[in-house]
Amino acid sequence: QSLPFESRPFASYGTALHIDLPQPPRAGQRLAIEIDYEAGEGPGGSGAGRGDRGTEGTEGPGEPQVCWLAPEQTAGKQKPYMYTQGQAVLNRSFFPCFDTPSVKCTYSATVKVPEGFTAVMSATSWEKQKDNTFVFKMSHPIPSYLIALAVGDIVSADVGPRSRVWAEPCLIEAAKKEYDGVIEEFLVVGEKLFGPYVWGRYDILFMPPSFPFGGMENPCLTFLTPCLLAGDRSLVDVIIHEISHSWFGNLVTNATWGEFWLNEGFTMYAQRRISTEVYGSAYTCLEAATGRALLRQHMDTTGEDHPLNKLRVVIEPGLLGVNPDDTYNETPYEKGYCFVSYLAHLVGDQSKFDAFLQAYVNRFKFQSITADDTLGFFLEHFPELKEKGVDSIPGFEFDRWLNTPGWPPFLPDLSPGQQLMEPADELAELWAAEGLNMEAVEAVDITAWRTYQLIYFLDRVLQKSPLPEGNVERLSKMYPKISKAQNAELRLRWCQIILKNNLEAEYSKVKDFLHSQGKQKYTLPLYRAMWGGSESAQALAMETFSAAAPQLHVNVRNYVKQILGLEVAK
Ligand code: BES
Ligand code: ZN
Repeated sequence: QSLPFESRPFASYGTALHIDLPQPPRAGQRLAIEIDYEAGEGPGGSGAGRGDRGTEGTEGPGEPQVCWLAPEQTAGKQKPYMYTQGQAVLNRSFFPCFDTPSVKCTYSATVKVPEGFTAVMSATSWEKQKDNTFVFKMSHPIPSYLIALAVGDIVSADVGPRSRVWAEPCLIEAAKKEYDGVIEEFLVVGEKLFGPYVWGRYDILFMPPSFPFGGMENPCLTFLTPCLLAGDRSLVDVIIHEISHSWFGNLVTNATWGEFWLNEGFTMYAQRRISTEVYGSAYTCLEAATGRALLRQHMDTTGEDHPLNKLRVVIEPGLLGVNPDDTYNETPYEKGYCFVSYLAHLVGDQSKFDAFLQAYVNRFKFQSITADDTLGFFLEHFPELKEKGVDSIPGFEFDRWLNTPGWPPFLPDLSPGQQLMEPADELAELWAAEGLNMEAVEAVDITAWRTYQLIYFLDRVLQKSPLPEGNVERLSKMYPKISKAQNAELRLRWCQIILKNNLEAEYSKVKDFLHSQGKQKYTLPLYRAMWGGSESAQALAMETFSAAAPQLHVNVRNYVKQILGLEVAK
C-alpha cells in the first residue's frame, strides 16, 4: 500500500523524510518500505556540483552531493565520470537512509550504466550481468557513510592475492607499478596486530584529480587521490591508513560524528603500528613528527582553545547546527593519536596494548560506540590500571583529554626518528640564518634523503619563514628536487613557503598545483595563505579560484568561497 510522506526541514545539509505508517509497528516487527526517488542531476560541465547555485537558500537545504564529472575533469579527458563520497553526511543525497554512523545495515545494489562504463562499489561481492548491469552485495552491516559508488571508464589490474587497483586506462600502469606486491604485506601485518581482515577483498580505486581527500576507506574498495602516484611509493602511509580503518572505523565505528577521533585517532595509531612493523620506528617516528607539525600549524591558525580542538566536539542539532563536515581538522587525527599513545603509555608494554586493541575490535566489531564505551573497556581490560585511578591523574584526566581544547597533555616519544630529523633540523637552521653559511649548506647532501625527510625539512623552513631576504631564492635554485618536485606533499609545502616568503617569481607554481588537483587538505591551506598574504597574493587567490573553481568538489569550493569572503559564512 502506498504511504503518505513529507519532507521536513532538518539541517542546513539535508531534509528529513517522514513516512506515516498505517499503525505503529510492534517491537521486533520487520517492515519493508520501498522508496522511489531520483538523485542528483546529469553533468553540467561546470564542475562537481551543477551550476553556480549557492549552498543554501536557493533550492532547499544543501546541494546534491553525487559528483558528476565532465570528461575534462578526468585524467583521460574522454568520458564523464561519477562518484559518491558519503562521509560524513553526504549519502542522504545519494539514497534515503538513516544517515548516522550509529545505524548499520547490509546493502545490495543493481547498477545499470551506459556501454563502455564500469561500475564499482564498496561491496563484498559483485557480478556483471548482461546489459551493462552490475549487481553488488555487502554482506556485513556497515554505516550509511561507507556505501560508495563510482562509474567511469575504468579498468583493473591485480596487485596481490586479494587486491587489485582500478583506474582510468591512462593511469593503470602507474597504479599497478606503485602498489604491486605491497598491499598484501600491510594486510598481513594488520591481521597479525588487530585480528582477521573480515572484508574479503581489499581493492583500490584511483579517483579523478578533484577527489577531495587523500583516501576514503570505503570497505573492500578504498578510494584514493591520484596524487599518491608519486612513482616511488613514498606516500604509501595513506594506504596503510585506509587499510587500518578496516578495523578502526569500519568494524568499530564512532556512534556520532562528535566523536570522530574514535575513528581517526585509533586509525592513526594503527597506521603507525603497521608502519613500525614494516618500515621500522625511525621512519615511522619521522612520519609522526610531520603529523605533529600539522597539528601545531592547525592549532596556531585556529587558536588552541578553539572549541573544535577537543576530541569530543559538540555538533548542535537543528537548522542552524554545526555541519559535521565543518569539524574535519587535524585534532581528531593527531590529538587522537596522542591520546591512544597515552593509553599505550599507561599500559607500558607494547604487546599488551596490541592485545588490548585486538580484544577491543573483537568486542565491538559491527557496532557503533562512544568514547565512554572505549575507555570503559580499557579500564575493564586493565583492572590494575583502573584500581590506580589512571582515568583521573591530575592534568591527564580522560575527561580532560575528551572535553578540554588545546595541545595534547601527552606527546609520544618520537626520538627513534631523531637520526632522520636531526640533519633536516640542522639544515633548516642554516637556511634561516642571516648571512647564509653556504659552505655549511653545501656540505649537506640531500640527494639521498627520503621524501619524508624533505617534508620534515620543509615544515621546519616554513615554520621559520619568512626567511632573511634572498634565502628562499637561493634555496629554490640549490634544490630543484624540492622546488621542481612532482610529489604532491612536497609541492604543497613548497607552495606554502612561496606564499609565506611572498616569492612572486614562483607564484605560478601555486596556481599550477591548485589546478592539478583538488584535495581539501592541500587546497584550503593555500587559499588561506594567499588570502592572508600580500595584495598580489590575494589577487593570485582570486585569479586561481575563478579558473579552478569548476574543477573542485562542491564542499571544497564552498569552503574556499568562505575563505575568500565570497559567501556569507553559515
Ligand atoms: N575517512 C577519512 C577521510 C574523510 C574524513 C572523509 C572526513 C570525509 C570526512 C580518511 O580515512 C582519511 O583520514 N584520509 C586522510 C589520510 C591521511 C590521514 C593519511 C586524508 O585524506 O588526508
Ligand atoms: Zn582516516
